[in-house]
Amino acid sequence: MQQFDVLIIGSGLAGLTVALKVASEKRVCLVSKRKINDNSSSWAQGGIAAVLTDDDSIEAHIQDTLIAGAGLCDQEVTRQVASHARETVEWLIAQGVPFTREDDGSGYHLTREGGHSHRRIIHAADATGHAVQKTLAEQVLSHPNIIVLEDHIAVDLITSRKAGIGAPQDNAECLGAYVLDNQSGKVMTIAAQQTVLATGGAGKVYLYTTNPDVSTGDGVAMSWRAGCRVANMEFIQFHPTCLFHPKAKSFLITEAVRGEGGILKLPDGTNFMPHHDKRGELAPRDVVARAIDFEMKKRGLDCVFLDISHKPADFVISHFPTIYRRCMELGIDITKEPIPVVPAAHYSCGGVMTDHTGRTDLASLYAIGETACTGLHGANRLASNSLLECMVFGQAAANDILSQPGRPSVSLPYWDESRVTDADEEVIITHNWNELRRTMWNYVGIVRTSKRLTRAMHRIQMLRDEVDEFYSNFRVSNNLIELRNLLQVAELIVRSAMERHESRGLHYSRDYPEMLDIAVPTVLEPSNYFSLLDRDLTEKSNRST
Ligand code: FAD
Ligand code: SIN
Repeated sequence: MQQFDVLIIGSGLAGLTVALKVASEKRVCLVSKRKINDNSSSWAQGGIAAVLTDDDSIEAHIQDTLIAGAGLCDQEVTRQVASHARETVEWLIAQGVPFTREDDGSGYHLTREGGHSHRRIIHAADATGHAVQKTLAEQVLSHPNIIVLEDHIAVDLITSRKAGIGAPQDNAECLGAYVLDNQSGKVMTIAAQQTVLATGGAGKVYLYTTNPDVSTGDGVAMSWRAGCRVANMEFIQFHPTCLFHPKAKSFLITEAVRGEGGILKLPDGTNFMPHHDKRGELAPRDVVARAIDFEMKKRGLDCVFLDISHKPADFVISHFPTIYRRCMELGIDITKEPIPVVPAAHYSCGGVMTDHTGRTDLASLYAIGETACTGLHGANRLASNSLLECMVFGQAAANDILSQPGRPSVSLPYWDESRVTDADEEVIITHNWNELRRTMWNYVGIVRTSKRLTRAMHRIQMLRDEVDEFYSNFRVSNNLIELRNLLQVAELIVRSAMERHESRGLHYSRDYPEMLDIAVPTVLEPSNYFSLLDRDLTEKSNRST
């Protein structure tokens, strides 16, 4: 068993921020299931929303966020995030992040994205995430108080209840996590005074996604199993413009392309967005994604096109060098021809419920970044508010952690593998994963119906039964852990979607096309749910933990 002050699960912008902010006083262990930079944060393109000019205002940023969130944003949290944006960006600049400057060097170049009333997106060309992640990861890797375990995947949280520590009536507390070393296949017990879930999103639950392979909803699934509430899981953001090409797996075409004048077109060159919304290409993402979905289904198209070729070639290449290079590799010259695009699952607005410091329902457990539901995004996230949220809540959680008194260390049970064997057929994992992703894409996509949701739920429950049995009998592996978590998250998404009898923000149901007068978040409670369905996995499992 290893002991640390703080265990951070996840090495994206959320995890790195907390690590750096507590490391002067705490011994930190940061685990990452792949390499430190394999995550959504590294792939972020557009930038970070922040009010940095006099003609813009924090009130305007708040208003834009609230409008996009369709009545479900927490107003105080929105104010907290918008008003800390400037100092957050200044912190990044002080760490050495090379944000793009105006051509004349007068200041930082700010781009524009859908739903924003002002130019307020600070960026590093079209690879903002890479620049930020690289800068912070280098500091984390060289920090004497931070141990980084790459290729280590957290399997489950260890709670006082599961570990049999304290009286049953005591409030449960998080004491650390079981972590699988993907190289050796051994499961370690990591004890910590505080544990932070910074595990990112769950895009891999869908067939088509802009997300990297690590986005499998592990934090939501682990915290749910540990007894935390989750909220607003039905609000999955589909990015309107993912590159459509057989050789391009999950490559985003940033919204900033539309912000800088890119036009969405049908194959015959018709600009269709003005027929759907007067804000045209810069309408919020849900509107643009639904418009594309509508045009594709109506006309039987494989994709639509995003055209920026009317802009001078040097402008396009200097603003979008990464996209230019990647498209060129695939034979598309974006300075001369339109880019084939389709919508794809991009961001989970819901997640583990937290307060304004990132605390969850379980004592000593925090959730930050995309895995959390802080109340900022409501029913639809405003572009470029996510990286900002990772850092503002990373700082808030760090402040809270630093203010906590230490507690005596306890001895935790080891991972018990005495009653399991090596898996006989790994192919079950691949098949079930494919089936899940296809089911979610076909039945729980941009436009939903009650019948499709019911179908999806039946299939998910069948897959869960198979995978639960597999999990109970065989040694854990990275893929098995991810699939188990994805199935759990899929079930939470579908259940939340079934509970919402209206269309709001990112959730559009043909059976309930109207938006109700009163906006209510969807909150799922594990205790109700387990007793309802009698599916407590810990009881069904062959494992003692
Ligand atoms: P991530 O950066 O995804 O990091 C999650 C980490 O957790 C990973 O390191 C992963 O390995 C680790 N992990 C997960 N599960 C486990 C486990 N069980 N055990 C151990 N480690 C685990 N937002 C913006 O604001 N602006 C943008 O311009 C922007 N562009 C985007 C472009 C793309 C292509 C994508 C996919 C997203 C974009 N977003 C953008 C959204 C934003 O990038 C993400 O929401 C944000 O980076 C999430 O950060 P995070 O730290 O929460 O998660
Ligand atoms: C993009 O660059 O289009 C993505 C921005 C975001 O998801 O916030």
